[in-house]
Amino acid sequence: MEQSEENRDQWGSRFGFILAAIGSAVGLGNIWRFPYMTYENGGGAFLIPYFFALLTAGIPLLILEMGLGHKMRGSAPLSFRKIKEKYETLGWWSVLITFVVTVYYSVIVAWAINFMSYSFNQVWGATPNKFFFKEYLQMTSFWNIGGIRFNILAGLALVWGLNGFILYNGIKEGIEKAAKIFMPILALLVVLITIRGVTLPGAINGLNHFLKPDFSVLLNPNVWVSAYGQVFFTLSLGFGIMIAYASYLPKKEDVVNNAFITAFANSGFSFLAGLGIFGVLGYMAQAKGIPFKEVATDGIGLAFIAFPKAINMLPGMQGFFGFLFFLCLTIAGISSTMSLVESFSSSVIDKFQIKRKQAIALVCGLGFLASTIFATGMGLVVLDVVDHFILNYGLVIVGLIESIILGYFWDLSEIKDHVNQVSDFKVGNWWIIAIKYVTAIILGVMSVMKLKNELA
Ligand code: PHE
Ligand code: NA
Repeated sequence: MEQSEENRDQWGSRFGFILAAIGSAVGLGNIWRFPYMTYENGGGAFLIPYFFALLTAGIPLLILEMGLGHKMRGSAPLSFRKIKEKYETLGWWSVLITFVVTVYYSVIVAWAINFMSYSFNQVWGATPNKFFFKEYLQMTSFWNIGGIRFNILAGLALVWGLNGFILYNGIKEGIEKAAKIFMPILALLVVLITIRGVTLPGAINGLNHFLKPDFSVLLNPNVWVSAYGQVFFTLSLGFGIMIAYASYLPKKEDVVNNAFITAFANSGFSFLAGLGIFGVLGYMAQAKGIPFKEVATDGIGLAFIAFPKAINMLPGMQGFFGFLFFLCLTIAGISSTMSLVESFSSSVIDKFQIKRKQAIALVCGLGFLASTIFATGMGLVVLDVVDHFILNYGLVIVGLIESIILGYFWDLSEIKDHVNQVSDFKVGNWWIIAIKYVTAIILGVMSVMKLKNELA
């Protein structure tokens, strides 16, 4: 039994929906994954496979997920069930992975919240590396009582509490309102960080490394596969998120334009973040008099070690800049976890006909409990396992099955006709080709490559 369609919660405005979708898309991947990936894979030349992947697979799949949710008016499991009963399982698989990802993502956001406060007096001292791995994550710090890291626990409580509070209030009054506050702040933060980054002495060296094109990479198939991987991840595809978000879009609303706007805003954010971060790294390399490649890094190492080091060396307003950087991570992270929790919760609501408030309390309560494992000594190990699990079994497998089921075992023109009815910009047959041939085949190649690595 599904919730009657008339009662389905709705976005108050198209703008609100777009902001929320951008909020989901813009996350850690834009800040700590895209810049380094570009640097590693041919600098400016990487933008060619990146945009190619965006246009041939990322945006088409985004239109597919948004179109599906909009047409079926349901979360992932319900939308797939409306196609064929047995496909509901795929929807559940994707939202289950979503839950695991949220637990993982929430930990990183909790760290960022902790580091936001550490920025002011630079608690990490002269050796951020030692601080992060020993004092912060291990037993040696005073926040550590009986093996529980109370600082991380407090961060987690804040992340889940805030998520719970926002989602409890529903789509229009919760997610949309939050997105309208978060997204302008996030845009301002990334602009400030970029300005600070590119105006530092030595920044140009970093920017050169970020963007200097090496066109020879275009011949390397791995670079192309990396570009597709980044594009799927960065647009939050394969997690049921865009399906759920679009299911709350009023019936007459545009889909295709919304997808394009979301995708390009997300890329713009990545690009700006890259300028800012590589500017800061270039400055650090120059100030230390070491080659750039010794400071270039991504992920946890970039955010929690390299950045604190760079903050230590800034010519002024160190604490304030540190605060801005970690605030940026926090807001980007919360607006992504919000969408993850919503994807899971809306599936539960659609399926079990429980009230939103109950579902949210349940999901956030369980999520908080599950994430507390990361506040113990086992945290880092679990984090590694989950990280691996997400990329291999989440996104790639779900995206692959999704494009195969919808492309080969169903008639994609149902979605095409649907989105063309409501959208200003109409999709043509290129869209069907992009899903059936490009997306399905690339994700298939990626699964085989991952499997090979797994077995090797
Ligand atoms: N799109 C987010 C990013 O780039 C990652 C993400 C994936 C968030 C899936 C939510 C769901 O960081
Ligand atoms: Na992103």
